[in-house]
Amino acid sequence: MTHRFETLAIHAGQEPEPVTGAVVTPIFATSTYHQDAVGAPRQGYDYGRSANPTRRALEDCLAALEGGRRGLAFASGLAAEDTLLRTVCAPGDHVVIPDDAYGGTYRLFARIAERWGLRWTHAPLHDLDAAATAITSGTKLVWVETPTNPLLRVADIAALASLAHRAGALLVVDSTFASPYLQRPLTLGADVVVHSTTKYCGGHSDVVGGALVVRDPALGEELAYHQNAMGGVAGPFDAWLTLRGLKTLAVRMERHCDNAERVAAFLSARSELSEVLYPGLPGHPGHAVAARQMRRFGGMVSFRVRAGEEAAIAICNQARLFTLGESLGGVESLIEHPARMTHASTAGSPLEVPADLVRLSVGIESADDLVADLEQALGVLSAGRPRPVSPGRPAGPDGR
Ligand SMILES: Cc1ncc(COP(=O)(O)O)c(C=O)c1O
Repeated sequence: MTHRFETLAIHAGQEPEPVTGAVVTPIFATSTYHQDAVGAPRQGYDYGRSANPTRRALEDCLAALEGGRRGLAFASGLAAEDTLLRTVCAPGDHVVIPDDAYGGTYRLFARIAERWGLRWTHAPLHDLDAAATAITSGTKLVWVETPTNPLLRVADIAALASLAHRAGALLVVDSTFASPYLQRPLTLGADVVVHSTTKYCGGHSDVVGGALVVRDPALGEELAYHQNAMGGVAGPFDAWLTLRGLKTLAVRMERHCDNAERVAAFLSARSELSEVLYPGLPGHPGHAVAARQMRRFGGMVSFRVRAGEEAAIAICNQARLFTLGESLGGVESLIEHPARMTHASTAGSPLEVPADLVRLSVGIESADDLVADLEQALGVLSAGRPRPVSPGRPAGPDGR
């Protein structure tokens, strides 16, 4: 019998534990396992880096939710990305990356993988003509994020998959902003899905993790080999927290979407803002594609402030219920200034984000309270000129 998403989230990979019948998958806090004889580990469990039953349950659940054949859980989203890159690519290979992406992903390509010999081209992948021009016969991977962080651009996964496959390349989709509940890239033709499970999958801002899910079992096997050989695995406690988060993903995402729609509608009526970026707004350039490939439009909303950078920062500082902080996808609402915070590593690069941009991760609190907080935060603009801000954060040019 095939089950629906909500059922899979609670049951896939999570049979009652065979010894005690525990309904909740236990945290197997062990680095090693008793073997019945030399060369006869039980069910293949020999060492904690290579396999762990809590991690396996999370991996199987993620694979089921994405409609994939193999899931792999990592210590962070970036550990998952790095493992994927070094599994599929070799020095000298070419990849296409988006011109709007999480700053840390850009940093991985531009500052780490490039030194290792990877060649990359950035392109606006929501524009299929630009994508077709950037993909060459030597391209190994097309890497797309949709919706993007932080500009909420939407790329057409099915169309990019055909372009990539025609050139003999794989399509990788970072689907972190959508979560498996809102978007299933493998069913649209993508080869690999990437998640920072730190975000909606975990959902409670209490764990850092990452995942890869693939359709092709052979690629899954190769990735599993590298996961073990490179070692960036999710620990059992982290895997357990993420698995617990997945159980409520569907209900949380519905509420994130409800609240984000309310917030986007409120912001759209504010004359202080020059642009509200939310794929659920009919005027959003990616609205039609998002409506086709996503169940709903997600919990992330960005906006640009007419009065510029100082005003954008003043709004972030003035918010009370929206917590000023990095990350996203938790039950609590967050506000941030991408140029100074999450995307500081793109400063001076082709992926630099606008200084007047504010990003919201809309949580699942009362929508009335969230709108009231934004109203009072925007009030800082009429209360007089925002205070000048310090020139930067002390963390150095890479930010986070
Ligand atoms: C879209 C996206 N992908 C990947 C990552 C990296 O994930 P992690 O922070 O878990 O390493 C992030 C982190 O913010 C992200 O927003």
